[in-house]
Amino acid sequence: MAKRYRMLIDGEWLGDDRSGIEVINPFDDSLIGLVPEATAEDVEAAIIAAAKGFERISAMPAHKRSDILEKTAELILRDKDEIAGIIAREAGKSWKYAVAEAERSAETFKFAAIEAKASHGEIVPMDASAVSAGRFGFYIRTPIGIIGAITPFNFPLNLVAHKLAPAIATGNAVVLKPATKTPLTSLKLAELLMEAGLPAGALNVLIGSGSTVGNRLVEDNRLAMITFTGSPPVGRGIKSRSGLKRVTLELGSNSPTIIEEDGDVDKAVSRCVVGSFANSGQVCISVQRIFVHKDRYDEFIAKFVEATCALKVGDPFDKSSDIGPMITTKELNRALEWLEEAKNLGAVVAAGGNAIGNCLEPTILTGVTREMKVMCSEVFAPIVSVLPYDTFDEALEMADDSVYGLQAGIYTRDINKAFKAIKKLDVGGVIINDVPTFRVDHMPYGGNKESGLGREGLKYAMEEMTNIKMVCINL
Ligand code: SIN
Repeated sequence: MAKRYRMLIDGEWLGDDRSGIEVINPFDDSLIGLVPEATAEDVEAAIIAAAKGFERISAMPAHKRSDILEKTAELILRDKDEIAGIIAREAGKSWKYAVAEAERSAETFKFAAIEAKASHGEIVPMDASAVSAGRFGFYIRTPIGIIGAITPFNFPLNLVAHKLAPAIATGNAVVLKPATKTPLTSLKLAELLMEAGLPAGALNVLIGSGSTVGNRLVEDNRLAMITFTGSPPVGRGIKSRSGLKRVTLELGSNSPTIIEEDGDVDKAVSRCVVGSFANSGQVCISVQRIFVHKDRYDEFIAKFVEATCALKVGDPFDKSSDIGPMITTKELNRALEWLEEAKNLGAVVAAGGNAIGNCLEPTILTGVTREMKVMCSEVFAPIVSVLPYDTFDEALEMADDSVYGLQAGIYTRDINKAFKAIKKLDVGGVIINDVPTFRVDHMPYGGNKESGLGREGLKYAMEEMTNIKMVCINL
């Protein structure tokens, strides 16, 4: 008998008596458990509960909200191995990356605990204008209300933490809809938050379809904000249907890395291997396009292929495994089709290219062109393309030739080139002497163009989740 899980509404765990959604282990297709599928009535109950939860959490002083966040960080570390096991089982993430995600999430909550106590308004110098001289002005930040959080499968803990922790830090209530493929990590996190003292209704967790749960949250006027991480088409749909709600969108990318003539090729190789293939490339800032100066190209390719072929593909629970499965067989087949298209258009497979069960070997392509899907769309699979270039300006042009703009990595020892890249690239983050797959959880994170709207990173997400209230006193 498969284990039955429950959803969380108003502090009550409910729904283990219903038929539910199957949660499947993507490595071996085994059934992990059943979660109740939320109905329209559950969505209504969760929104009503969140309204009550908002009254409770917004009335809490900052130091108490900070304590809850700090305690949650401690509980995540206490249960780190159990959590890593849930992530490895339902998301197929290799053990070392699953543990790293648990550790990162604890840090995300710690940063939020600090920010909860540091958030403040500002004095506005009213005597700057003759009209307002004689008045005293300041603003405060107030919580926005009920936030709908819609989260993806690829970081089932930390990308949920990036929505819940700033919401709690600012005194907001949340209705969370985690990815239906990976709901169990969210349910575990919700348990820990309740254990840490989060008031009933401040967090409600519903698992269900986009049409029953997601659309209702997006369209309901009682919600003040939607924060979403996922694909650009879904993000566009959310934006167009959300009315006057605030919307934060963390969407996709086909992130570039430039390795300039003077760059450190050995360091670039070891980071490109991790940046291209960790979590089977199912990371928004995964390295997808590598541009290498023509004089370093042969050296880079030889070393990159050698390091890639040394990666171990297999069971996420094998502690020496580097690459686990794709999230579904459908996604694996989609990636294989994109590979076929690239090969038919002239791309050459320099490493990998084959499926092993539900895993895709880490794959390097050369001879690619800009119109191939593996170049111009987000591949979200362990496939990376490498191209030579002549001049740095040309490399910057190629890197920026994208509908996306999340993060870019540049290897160079020349500070002038680094600043040229910083100025030129239309992205949310430029990472000098590292791959774009670099994120620490307190830094501003988010994209330009099709990569999204708004920024995460605790302080920045907290700005998105608060309203400014101006106070002006006529003296
Ligand atoms: C993402 O895939 O958007 C998140 C990457 C990260 O947090 O490292």
